Amino acid sequence: MRIAFLGKGGAGKTTTAAGFIQYMRARHPFVLAVDADVNAHLMSALNLSGEVKQLGLHFDEVTDYLRGQRTDLGDRPMIGTTPPANGSNFIKVSKNDPFIEKYAKIEDNLALLTVGTYQQEDVGGSCYHEKLKSLAGIFHHMLDHEDDIVIADTTAGTDNVATSLSFAYDINVFVLEPTEKSTQVFLDYKEIAPQFVERTFVVGNKVDGVEDEEYIQSRVGTDKYLGSIPYSANLKRFEQGEEDAIHSFQMEQARAFDNVHQKWRERKRDWQDYLDRLHKTFAWDCQRWYSDYYRCDMLTGIDKSFSYEDVMRVKTTV
Ligand SMILES: Nc1ncnc2c1ncn2[C@@H]1O[C@H](COP(=O)(O)OP(=O)(O)OP(=O)(O)O)[C@@H](O)[C@H]1O
Ligand SMILES: [Mg+2]
Repeated sequence: MRIAFLGKGGAGKTTTAAGFIQYMRARHPFVLAVDADVNAHLMSALNLSGEVKQLGLHFDEVTDYLRGQRTDLGDRPMIGTTPPANGSNFIKVSKNDPFIEKYAKIEDNLALLTVGTYQQEDVGGSCYHEKLKSLAGIFHHMLDHEDDIVIADTTAGTDNVATSLSFAYDINVFVLEPTEKSTQVFLDYKEIAPQFVERTFVVGNKVDGVEDEEYIQSRVGTDKYLGSIPYSANLKRFEQGEEDAIHSFQMEQARAFDNVHQKWRERKRDWQDYLDRLHKTFAWDCQRWYSDYYRCDMLTGIDKSFSYEDVMRVKTTV
C-alpha cells in the first residue's frame, strides 16, 4: 500500500512524511520512502546523507529497465503511463530488489527513491510533470502487497490530480495547518477529484490547542480527520541541534500516526480498477500528444491480456 502526504507549501508535508516513515520503520521490517517533490528535502529530513540518483534525470534508463523483455511494443518508446505487459520488469518492495538496489539510498530497513530537483538546463523550459514521468512508470510497475509500505512526500498543492500519480497512491493524507489557505487546498481537492475522496484523509499540523483543531474540523469535517500534531517546540529544539528532542516530537506525532497506520491496514487495492485507470490515462496521453509526437500509433498492440494479479502470483511464488 502506498501513502502520499499532500498539502499547501510549507504546511509540514516533508516533516510529517519523515515522521511517519520513522514511525513505520519502528514497526515494520522494511519501508520504501519516495521523495516525489522536485524541491527534494526528504533525504535530509530522514537524516540521510551522500549521493542519490535522481530518477527524474534518468527517464530513458528507468523505462529501458521497466520494458524488460516485452515484445508488444515493437520499437515504440515507453512513456510514464505505458501499462505493463507480461514481459515487463517489475519492482518489489524489498531491499534486494535489483531496481531498488540500483536507484535507492538504502539504510538499514529504509530505502529512499528520489525524483530529484531541477537542473540548470531545465530553467524556463521544463515542467515538473516531466520529472514525475519516471516515478509514474515506477509506480505502475510496482508489485506491492497489502503489507508492504511505501510512503511518499509530494509537491505542494493539488497538481497530482493532473497526472497518473493521482491513482497511484492508495491513501492520501493532507497535512493542514489551521489556516484558511491551508485547509482550502483539501477543499479544492475534494471538488476536483471526488473519485478519490474515499481514500483521502486529513492530519492537522502546527495545531496550537483545541481551538485550532476545531477550526480545521469546521472547515473540512470530522469524518476525515485523523488527528492533530501540535505546533512543536521540540521540533524547533531539534532543528537547533538538540538531537534528543526529536523523540519528544515523535511522541507528539504518534497519536495521529496511529490513525494513519490504521487506515493503511484497512485499505485494499483494487488492481483491476488501477489497471483500467492506467489504460484510460495512457490512451488519453497518446491521443492528446504522444502518437503525434512519435509519429506512430502508440495505442495499437498493447498487451491487453496482462493482469497485475496474475503477475503478482507468478512473481511472488518464484
Ligand atoms: N508540527 C510542527 N511544529 C512546528 N514546526 C513545524 C511543524 N511541522 C513543520 N514545521 C516547520 O514548518 C516548516 C515547513 O515544514 P516542511 O518543510 O515539512 O513543509 P512542506 O509542506 O514539506 O514544505 P514544502 O512545500 O516547501 O515542501 C519547517 O521549518 C518545519 O520545521
Ligand atoms: Mg516539503
